[in-house]
Amino acid sequence: MKVFNNINELKSVLATHRLEGKKIALVPTMGALHQGHASLVRKAAAENDIVVVSVFVNPTQFNDKNDLKKYPRTLEADCELLEREGADIVFSPSVDEMYPEEDKRQFSFPPLDTVMEGIFRPGHFNGVCQVVSKLFMIADPDKAYFGEKDFQQLAIIREMVRKMGFKLEIVGCPIIREMDGLALSSRNALLSAEERKTALNISKTLFESVDYSKTHTLRETKGFVESSIAAVDGLKLEYFEIVDGNTLQSLEEWQNSSYIVGCITVFCGSVRLIDNIKYRG
Ligand code: PAF
Repeated sequence: MKVFNNINELKSVLATHRLEGKKIALVPTMGALHQGHASLVRKAAAENDIVVVSVFVNPTQFNDKNDLKKYPRTLEADCELLEREGADIVFSPSVDEMYPEEDKRQFSFPPLDTVMEGIFRPGHFNGVCQVVSKLFMIADPDKAYFGEKDFQQLAIIREMVRKMGFKLEIVGCPIIREMDGLALSSRNALLSAEERKTALNISKTLFESVDYSKTHTLRETKGFVESSIAAVDGLKLEYFEIVDGNTLQSLEEWQNSSYIVGCITVFCGSVRLIDNIKYRG
């Protein structure tokens, strides 16, 4: 496995692989890697010849500077995991390498980016699209792999690829959970042992809501999740929306869509956690 910090060096190695007819996969990450990322890398390795994993904490997608400062950075451990999981190339550029000048490009994909995270993290998806489109231009992959935990991000990246005409396939991969249900996230590393126990109520409530939804209306199910989270000391709900899985617009009735997902964001202490659950489709 080779580690590159320089865009031109990476491009030139990938150009050689491409000339040899190799299929190239890109797995964009911000590091602090866990088994969720490992599952993306394994799938990418099974489906392609060369797996490039980018490890870059992208400043333009953090609307909260303190969040950017706190974001865990563990490059050495990340490289060990990536080597074990079969990555061929790690791309770990500096901020200056990725942004030699301010990226003034504006991305907007309404109505996908005007709801949920789009409301609570203004500018976040613009930053995600800035960095992901740059990574696509640098690596020019055949396929790129993203987790379904960031459900809205995945929908927006698919839309960006479609609208901007990138010639690559986006592969969405299922959420990986701990044995007790907690969705894997780099931010889990910021939870104390006590907070981690409290955070378990998020996935527990979502799982219970799937059963509940079988005998209750969509509104009642939304209320069930909201009141269950509100009842837990140490959790603060930012939003819970039950949306159409394609348009991400909130639904009023179960019969209004055949693909329905519940998306939640909760603060556990000061750590912002997101999760989602499929009700239909
Ligand atoms: O999902 C993430 O980790 C990031 O948003 C991504 C896609 C790597 C862009 O920085």
